Amino acid sequence: MNNKILIAASAALTISIAGLAKAEPQAEVLHWWTSGGEAKSVAVLQEEFASRGGTWTDMPVAGGGGDAAMTALRARVLAGNAPTAVQLKGPAIQEWYEEGVLADISSVAESQGWSDVLPASIAGHMKCEGTWCAAPVNVHRIDWIWANAAVLAENGISMPTSWDEFNAAANKLKSAGITPLAHGGQAWQDATVFEAVALGIGGPEFFHKAFVELDQNTLKSDSMKAVFDQMRTMRGFVDSNFSGRDWNLATAMVMNGEAAFQIMGDWAKGEFLAAGKRPGIDFLCASTPGDGFLYNVDSFAMFDVDGSDKEAGQMLLAELIVGKNFQKVFNMNKGSIPARVDVALDDFDPCAHTSAQDMAASNSGGSLLPSYAHGMALRGAQAGAITDVVTAHFNSDMSSSEAVEMLANAVANSM
Ligand code: GAL
Repeated sequence: MNNKILIAASAALTISIAGLAKAEPQAEVLHWWTSGGEAKSVAVLQEEFASRGGTWTDMPVAGGGGDAAMTALRARVLAGNAPTAVQLKGPAIQEWYEEGVLADISSVAESQGWSDVLPASIAGHMKCEGTWCAAPVNVHRIDWIWANAAVLAENGISMPTSWDEFNAAANKLKSAGITPLAHGGQAWQDATVFEAVALGIGGPEFFHKAFVELDQNTLKSDSMKAVFDQMRTMRGFVDSNFSGRDWNLATAMVMNGEAAFQIMGDWAKGEFLAAGKRPGIDFLCASTPGDGFLYNVDSFAMFDVDGSDKEAGQMLLAELIVGKNFQKVFNMNKGSIPARVDVALDDFDPCAHTSAQDMAASNSGGSLLPSYAHGMALRGAQAGAITDVVTAHFNSDMSSSEAVEMLANAVANSM
């Protein structure tokens, strides 16, 4: 080979290596974090991604709980044009994996030592047949009750520690002309309240039997009737404009004193914080009456896409999502606690401390349970069957006996 050819060949090699190394990370990210607190939180990831040279194409699909986002995802995948990264969680991760459309992110998980920093229960949700197929962001708790501190004080009410206390407080507030319960009549919000009530009234074992094992006798039990009785009582505590209201507008009703309580996952706290409200001063947090802890772990899955820039984007996103700094800053904004066990909580608010303590206690006491309403416990068909009944009951005069019959049948037919 003469010198000229050698020089030309080595120049070509340098260019192509530079080209490879420079595959600039790209990511189109589908998520449903569009409320004030949520948008502030996801911005942390966008900034970190940009600071590492990534280009983020945002694909937000508004709609709490993610139902609309999941419909948009299906349409994109069917059209053969999947987004690079998708907010996806619980058994839906494995459902998509079974369709053969998820990318394997094991190389990042292994090089970043995820197994050493994630609790086994969370890691389990992120794996598909032994490979890592999703990256966890946080742990949200569902069974929370939020309150306007001044409204409670003015009415001589303290945070309820039983459902009877809750009902008594709500009746008192109602007589004083205050909406006791801020609620948005959307199916997933009905389900959120329902599962908190079910855990509280039935207890952790009942919850597991009903919403994890789908045990027919439990679904039809007297305890389940009592849960629907309480839902009927709570229907009397919401205002007349509740239908269709977004969850963050319900949170705003508590903030401005129009309503006293909201039962909602701790993304509601992200909303209070984003509005400058202080925990323990402007708003109060407590777990809903009863034992146990309903967890909801947000995560991102990467979809099979072509292009080294997109693949680089996926690997970078996965690395950042489980990164220590992101897990701290994001979760301080989001209202959740980190999925990693090695992030110090010193800078987190008291509600986050309660969450972490209760989660640890529930874990050792066997009452740490996956949220069915937020897609952690069941596959889509079963969760949907339950939620349909919950919503039909809440929005009609259906009796509790009819509701449990319908529930048991709907679940049986969804299998
Ligand atoms: C949940 C999700 C949370 C929060 C909430 C309201 O399903 O896990 O991160 O976004 O919906 O949109």
